[in-house]
Amino acid sequence: MDAKTDANKATGSITVGNKNYDLPIYKGSIGPDVLDISKLYGQSGMFTYDPGFTSTASCESKITYIDGDEGVLLYRGYPIDQLAEHGDFLETCYLLLYGELPTAAQKADFDYRVTRHTMVHEQMSRFFQGFRRDAHPMAIMTGSIGALSAFYHDSTDISDPTQRMIASLRMIAKVPTLAAMAYKYSVGQPFVYPKNDLDYASNFLHMCFAVPAEEYKPNPVLARAMDRIFILHADHEQNASTSTVRLAGSSGANPFACIAAGCACLWGPAHGGANEAALNMLSEIGTVDRIPEFVRRAKDKSDSYRLMGFGHRVYKNYDPRAKIMQKTCHEVLAELGIKDDPLLDVAMELERIALHDEYFIEKKLYPNIDFYSGITLKAMGFPTTMFTVLFAVARTVGWIAQWKEMIEDPKQKIGRPRQLYTGATERDYVPTSRRK
Ligand code: SDX
Repeated sequence: MDAKTDANKATGSITVGNKNYDLPIYKGSIGPDVLDISKLYGQSGMFTYDPGFTSTASCESKITYIDGDEGVLLYRGYPIDQLAEHGDFLETCYLLLYGELPTAAQKADFDYRVTRHTMVHEQMSRFFQGFRRDAHPMAIMTGSIGALSAFYHDSTDISDPTQRMIASLRMIAKVPTLAAMAYKYSVGQPFVYPKNDLDYASNFLHMCFAVPAEEYKPNPVLARAMDRIFILHADHEQNASTSTVRLAGSSGANPFACIAAGCACLWGPAHGGANEAALNMLSEIGTVDRIPEFVRRAKDKSDSYRLMGFGHRVYKNYDPRAKIMQKTCHEVLAELGIKDDPLLDVAMELERIALHDEYFIEKKLYPNIDFYSGITLKAMGFPTTMFTVLFAVARTVGWIAQWKEMIEDPKQKIGRPRQLYTGATERDYVPTSRRK
């Protein structure tokens, strides 16, 4: 990790009371400089304090760069719109994992290796039988991804680069299969095995929507849309679920357990669960004439209600993924001949109102990737409970790439934040008889 070479170093200082503390400043290739506070506690006896990490860089990374003010998202330096337009998801997986776009031979080899890991251990289907049929698919995903370490124990030694690579390929390949199984289980249909002659997205649609009773041919327009949706969701710097994966991985936990931890975090409605929540919100609004009532609630400080699919910790301008998601949404609705989707009417009017509303302009709240993804996925036939599952399928490669970068960093250590303690000071035990 080379941000600490002299060319990238300067010195800042902070003064507390009458004491001055010199702290190194590191420059990245692009983006904000960082102030290295790792020695501050040793020098000053003080911790820094940043709940939610709004001003804290948790690591050095070369994978994804976001400029929230300019609405820029780069995977290994390549703009997301170019990758979504010209590439496919497995090419993006290779890029995120290895840092460069693959040659034709490298791509063919990577596709071959991922494709031949798409089946899961046959006993996993019995593992599913333990779930209630009405279990939320994200509950099943969190459980079954974690269970992969019980079936693939031969790729859990994180000190072995070969095992790390096999575990990475296994998760990129098997998470879609588990996701399709979670969907099939929830609708009471038989599991559909992967087919090696289909590309990644077509294979996923086939495992979700094929039934033994008839031939299923994936619609190429929907498969392309699915593949593009995976690209858009693949990685996103140090978001909550990725930070969860890094923290779990810093203890040396096996990769399957780390990705399961990331999946659990993604489920939250403030994060990956927002696509399900956004569609439920659009359904609750129902018609365009009810929008003002919901916008008023979202602006009311005394009401915790928020517009799902709006706002972002980093993007204080349009989320570049939302633009591509909106275009993909229109393509899918056109392909399916859905002319007047009331949810789309509500979404577009809500977006128009929000983008012209003083409150949203002042708070810099723009539609994020979750705002249009729900309408698209619903049109493709997925129930809302599957939306975050699809996000997890795509983000698995991002979680793995970030985990791999951390594990391969010779200076990585267990993550162990401190705290500002405001609880009771030391006091003696009081026997029950004397408690009031
Ligand atoms: C994802 O981090 C990532 O990269 C995540 C992600 C990824 O790819 O990994 O991009 C995926 O999680 C996208 C975000 C999906 N979440 C939602 O759509 C849920 C709705 N959005 C909010 O909950 C919120 O915007 C967050 C959680 C996304 C961001 O919250 P922050 O950065 O902590 O900002 P905040 O909550 O402090 O909000 C700042 C202000 C507040 O008002 P004040 O207290 O300053 O008066 O904006 C208001 C908030 O009340 N606000 C909203 C709002 N989001 C923020 N008001 C109404 N509706 C909203 N959606």
